[in-house]
Amino acid sequence: MDPAALLPIPDTIPVPWGWFQVLLLLTFTIHILLMNVMFGSAFIALISHFRRGVISAPCTESVSRTLPFIIAFTVNFGVAPLLFVQVLYGHFIYTSSILMAVYWLAVVGLVVSAYGLSYLFKYRCDKLGLARVPVLMTIVLLFATIALAFVNNLSLMQMPSSWVRYFEEPRGLLHGLQDPMLLPRYLHFLTASIAVGGLGIAGYFHWRQQRGDWGGMEWVRIGCRWFSFATMVNIGIGLWFLFSLPQGILNLTIPDGQLLAAALGGGLVLAVPAIRAGLAGRVVAAVWWALGTVVLMVLARDLLRRALLAPCFSPSQLKIEPSFAPLILFLAAFVLGMALIAWMVTFSLKNSTTKGGRS
Ligand code: HEM
Repeated sequence: MDPAALLPIPDTIPVPWGWFQVLLLLTFTIHILLMNVMFGSAFIALISHFRRGVISAPCTESVSRTLPFIIAFTVNFGVAPLLFVQVLYGHFIYTSSILMAVYWLAVVGLVVSAYGLSYLFKYRCDKLGLARVPVLMTIVLLFATIALAFVNNLSLMQMPSSWVRYFEEPRGLLHGLQDPMLLPRYLHFLTASIAVGGLGIAGYFHWRQQRGDWGGMEWVRIGCRWFSFATMVNIGIGLWFLFSLPQGILNLTIPDGQLLAAALGGGLVLAVPAIRAGLAGRVVAAVWWALGTVVLMVLARDLLRRALLAPCFSPSQLKIEPSFAPLILFLAAFVLGMALIAWMVTFSLKNSTTKGGRS
């Protein structure tokens, strides 16, 4: 069977596709950074319980206090890219979601369970005693499972040739484990999360230090070291991912291929000063270099999707039925929402420092 025959006809869009592309990249960058801090900080807090000579309490306490907050933001900043990816690639992502429907629908239950447990961890952190470790471990495992479901879906959507396997597995249990890109892609996300989570912890204790609170200050150094070492490991995983790409995908004779190579190369180059800044404990510098790397990697991820789908689709082929009003309304609500969020975060941070404790 010709897999191209399975492609549904895409819907029309109200404004040129570039608008949705920019919004997708912007909101996805925020989502993935939050997801990184959420998973990575919880993972590091968990591991710190098993490391001799590391005082885990300040890290565990700060993670327990902030986790519900970060999960809520991760989920909410996941909704926006979900809307934009559906606008541009709806006929791909709807199909892949149906093909793996059982895992996909399970994500809702898994997110709710992790969110519920994070509240237990927050409000019963002291009383849980030794049970703290299995609770945190369950949260980390839930995050890792959710991430696997996302990677599976996003990989499946850009491989329409694998959809024909539906006829062997029509029960919504299709997975992409036979895809050589899946494992390195998944590990690349998890390792990046550990790195950014380490930087998040370092940044948090650095910020407290700036306000005269010196408790847990060794976590600035520990967080930075997690960042640098995880990033070093991730360069290796990134190369594994690169070599797992289908032959000819990195086509340097076309502009998109050159852009993809530039984004990957640029991300790699920026990772070097980021690692050095992390090893030297220079949190602020490491944050800026790391942000540059993440932005370029998000761009590279998008160009890779375009290259993989190029034989059958490009968002520039979407038909436009002009209507600017919904976009203007969305942008106004988006800017207002961001301003409100900024105010809310500043307000609760101020509140938590003046109370000097639980928010
Ligand atoms: C809370 C736990 C979550 C984790 C650990 C997580 C993790 C991830 C990961 C690792 C990716 C990248 C997948 C890839 O490119 O292969 C991803 C992408 C994505 N996530 Fe999340 N996610 C979470 C929650 C959510 C939720 C609740 C939503 C939606 C409401 C969401 C929306 C998205 C979207 C739309 C993308 C893909 C965007 C694109 O392709 O450009 N995420 N997520």
